[in-house]
Amino acid sequence: MLVLGIESSCDETGVALYDTGLGLLAHALHTQIAMHAEYGGVVPELASRDHIRRVLPLTRQVLADAQRQLSDINAIAYTEGPGLAGALLVGSGIAHALGVALDIPVLGVHHLEGHLLSPLLSANPPAYPFVALLVSGGHTQLMHVTGVGQYVTLGDTLDDAAGEAFDKTAQLLGLPYPGGAALSKLAENGDATRFKLPRPMLHSGDLNFSFSGLKTAVLTLSQKHPDPADHADIAAAFQLAMTDVLGSKSLAALKAVRCKRLVVAGGVGANRQLRTALDAAIKKIGGSVYFPELAFCTDNGAMIAYAGAMRLREGGGRPAGVFTVRPRWDLETMAAPAHTVQHITPAP
Ligand code: KG4
Ligand code: ZN
Repeated sequence: MLVLGIESSCDETGVALYDTGLGLLAHALHTQIAMHAEYGGVVPELASRDHIRRVLPLTRQVLADAQRQLSDINAIAYTEGPGLAGALLVGSGIAHALGVALDIPVLGVHHLEGHLLSPLLSANPPAYPFVALLVSGGHTQLMHVTGVGQYVTLGDTLDDAAGEAFDKTAQLLGLPYPGGAALSKLAENGDATRFKLPRPMLHSGDLNFSFSGLKTAVLTLSQKHPDPADHADIAAAFQLAMTDVLGSKSLAALKAVRCKRLVVAGGVGANRQLRTALDAAIKKIGGSVYFPELAFCTDNGAMIAYAGAMRLREGGGRPAGVFTVRPRWDLETMAAPAHTVQHITPAP
């Protein structure tokens, strides 16, 4: 079965072709980062308009790269939510229009399920069950994953998401949006021990996170040390605090569900220090840690095509035509495969 995947939930248009027999055939991405950078964040209306411009050329590109025709596609998966409503509508509209034209089923995919399953696209995929640390621009969650659609939330953020904390801290240090990768680069030249920042909720006894206090601590620190020469040390201290909290909570989650496999997904999963620290910590307990390939850490079409293919294999999907988007959508509400049918009922 050949599945076309379309991602358009935020500021990246991603399109991919996944074959359930052959694996990922092609994927293409256009990022809008440069367009939004001058505003310091994503401008939803500009994002929607750019998705409209990009999605069909990217679709043509993946078809050409995979040497396939439109008529070879058996189903279409698109990001139904969560995300920006106007941006989601572009992917959803294109998916359904193509679905009607080709007379093939269409499936709305949960964006975080895409991230959650993205490490399964790699050459050495994890077996179920595993604990997933989902760290993106909008979410920070620890999930216990026992199969496709079988997700239990173990911990969540009470305020800012990990990526958001990286981005806001980067902004405080004068780095361009989105700052996560830039902050991490700056931190490479810094001394992480010079400034001591708090590790929020480290000893809270649960698996939840809170990052707004850390952001405030960075604000106070950067006001005390406005010299840009100190920024690398502040960035390094911040990154170490984030890594400590994310690492320690991930280990606690593994312990709580008696599991030794950790999967890290979402944009912050691209962070090199986090990868190194988790690698070392998991090795110590004799477990394994799995990271998606860097290209599949941040938003992409491949993870949507893959998650869609897994769902479709279990009998998900519906005739194209009537569609909805879910700008707000809790991953846990789609716990059982039966929800695949329920959650795609158009909203009243
Ligand atoms: O998963 P993603 O592409 O989009 C969402 O679904 O939110 O994650 C984007 C987030 C941004 O906050 C970005 O700054 C962060 O991931 N990010 C990083 C790195 N690369 C991207 N954060 C820390 N270190 C990085 N290397
Ligand atoms: Zn994402």
